[in-house]
Amino acid sequence: MKGIVLAGGSGTRLYPITISVSKQLTPVYDKPMLYYPISTLMLMGIKDILIISTKDDIPRYKKLFGNGKSLGLRFSYEIQHAPNGLAEAFIIGEDFIKNEDVCLILGDNLFHGTGYISKIRKKIKNLNGGLIFGYRVSDPQRYGVVEFDKSFKVKSIEEKPQNPKSNYAVPGLYFYDNSIVKIAKNLKPSERGELEITDLNKEYLNKGDLEVQLLGRGVSWFDTGTHTSLLNASNFVRSIEERQGKKISCIEEVSLNMGFMDKKMLQKYIDLYPSCDYKNYLKTLI
Ligand code: DAU
Repeated sequence: MKGIVLAGGSGTRLYPITISVSKQLTPVYDKPMLYYPISTLMLMGIKDILIISTKDDIPRYKKLFGNGKSLGLRFSYEIQHAPNGLAEAFIIGEDFIKNEDVCLILGDNLFHGTGYISKIRKKIKNLNGGLIFGYRVSDPQRYGVVEFDKSFKVKSIEEKPQNPKSNYAVPGLYFYDNSIVKIAKNLKPSERGELEITDLNKEYLNKGDLEVQLLGRGVSWFDTGTHTSLLNASNFVRSIEERQGKKISCIEEVSLNMGFMDKKMLQKYIDLYPSCDYKNYLKTLI
């Protein structure tokens, strides 16, 4: 399975923070935002990752991650010339995806919790159609919203409805089989001129090929798209890290735990880092 992180967009909701820097490079407490979705992909066992961003920001991501080899990963980069919508990721990523299944994660989405990763990993071994998630929120109108019938069968999915039919938002983590590229290429832009991920999900739903799994209370999900949600995510990471003395989404630690890198490779990171808290933390992993 291939992984795509979408890290473009104009970030206008976070102005003036994002006038001169990509939103997904801004910090969530002690690391760049993109560390969080990338570590989620890694925990799913995905090593081949395409980062899609703007022409101006791609060089900054390359500086941060390089080709990924030192992490035991393989990073590719593609430019999205304009924020034409999330579903464009599959068109831009066509050559990267080739004939494999693919996971898309939004660069401003942070997931943390127990149990859900192993369940998803089992499911995506034999992916047939699409797999997305439902997460209970108090402000569903900000998101894609999924409606269920009494037996929890999906009835509808709507993008940012004014009158949401449920409190279940669709988080920015999507798994699709290889037919996604063809479906994305046939998609028409919505009224707001974007290729909508929700329209892709509706296509799968209409064919009876969409599974929606609920993420329960044991999982924390943040979309860091507003000043408040960005601060909430930072505060969350800080509280957990201070309490446990363990970092969330330290990509070097995830790589070590997943067996993508060994301690020798980790030592190279430690040698490269100047004296800082992050270096001290990496040292504790050896
Ligand atoms: O966070 C989950 C939600 O993400 C879903 O529930 C919605 O169905 C989905 O449409 C999306 O809604 P957002 O309002 O959060 O989408 P936004 O326009 O903020 O884009 C999400 C991220 O993707 C953001 O970091 C910017 C990036 N992006 C966005 C667009 C439209 C791109 O890189 N390229 C784009 O063309």
